[in-house]
Amino acid sequence: MSDTLQKAEKFPVSHMAENLIGSEIIKLGNEVNERIRNGEKVFNFTIGDFDPAIFPIPQGLQDEIIAAYKNHFTNYPMANGMPELRAAVSSWNKRLYNLDYSSAEVLIAGGARPIIYAIYNTILDHGDKVVYPIPSWNNNHYCHLLGANGIQVNCSVENNFMPTARDIQPYVKGASLLALCSPQNPTGTVFTKKQLEEICDCVLEENTRRGENEKPLYVMYDQIYGALLYGENKHVDPVSLRPEMRPFTIYVDGISKSFAATGVRVGWAMGPAFLMDKMKAILSHIGAWSPKPEQIATAKFFGE
Ligand SMILES: Cc1ncc(COP(=O)(O)O)c(C=O)c1O
Repeated sequence: MSDTLQKAEKFPVSHMAENLIGSEIIKLGNEVNERIRNGEKVFNFTIGDFDPAIFPIPQGLQDEIIAAYKNHFTNYPMANGMPELRAAVSSWNKRLYNLDYSSAEVLIAGGARPIIYAIYNTILDHGDKVVYPIPSWNNNHYCHLLGANGIQVNCSVENNFMPTARDIQPYVKGASLLALCSPQNPTGTVFTKKQLEEICDCVLEENTRRGENEKPLYVMYDQIYGALLYGENKHVDPVSLRPEMRPFTIYVDGISKSFAATGVRVGWAMGPAFLMDKMKAILSHIGAWSPKPEQIATAKFFGE
């Protein structure tokens, strides 16, 4: 290696890049895989990924993806997502959760991660407060990427490791974002109706207290595992429980988990149209779109 190259490797980079840490769950997953390689019998539940040999994507989705490539749908997709997919996501949510969101209130991206990044980036200024439960997935990293002030709320085993209004209440004053997820990663536990209702009431109370020119407290509601509930558990969400939450709620979802399609890269947000527009603008500069053939295929797979 040349001297200049060796020196360049020591040049300072941004504070943010220098201090990025890798995903804890991937580290854990690698450790488990190493033990499996060494002959131990371990069921690896660390990473929300699936062995495609056991859990392939649905045949109908695969057929549509192949057809879309064969039909040359390979140029840029629309920045906010293909209209047929936004319409299909809108109908899917109506069918599954009875949530009424129009196509203009849906934004498509290359999975849920860019959606979450865009939510953080749209709402937060440097140093803004983000309240999130512990344990939860990756909020610490998104706070770091955006220079936000992450406020971690410890959850208890008595409440299934889900946050309660009482846990959150002391931190909502001045906070810009409350990051919630149900079913929760890594615990797999869910909000009860009462738990989430009380949290919504706490958010609504805080937003009523704020002046017109103050940024409201937004809720990011990640329901990417929502379609995978079984038994007596029933998925609950803020806007269904408290319609007044609509202006303050942004949903995160995608096909990664519910259709075992982590490598296919189709995710979406649902929320107020003006926020979807801002998020679209950010994602366009990054180019974090979902591939056009996958979008068209997912739309056909979802149907009307
Ligand atoms: C709660 C949660 N949200 C979002 C994601 C990311 O989903 P995607 O693969 O669609 O980016 C994951 C998993 O990786 C997750 O566990």
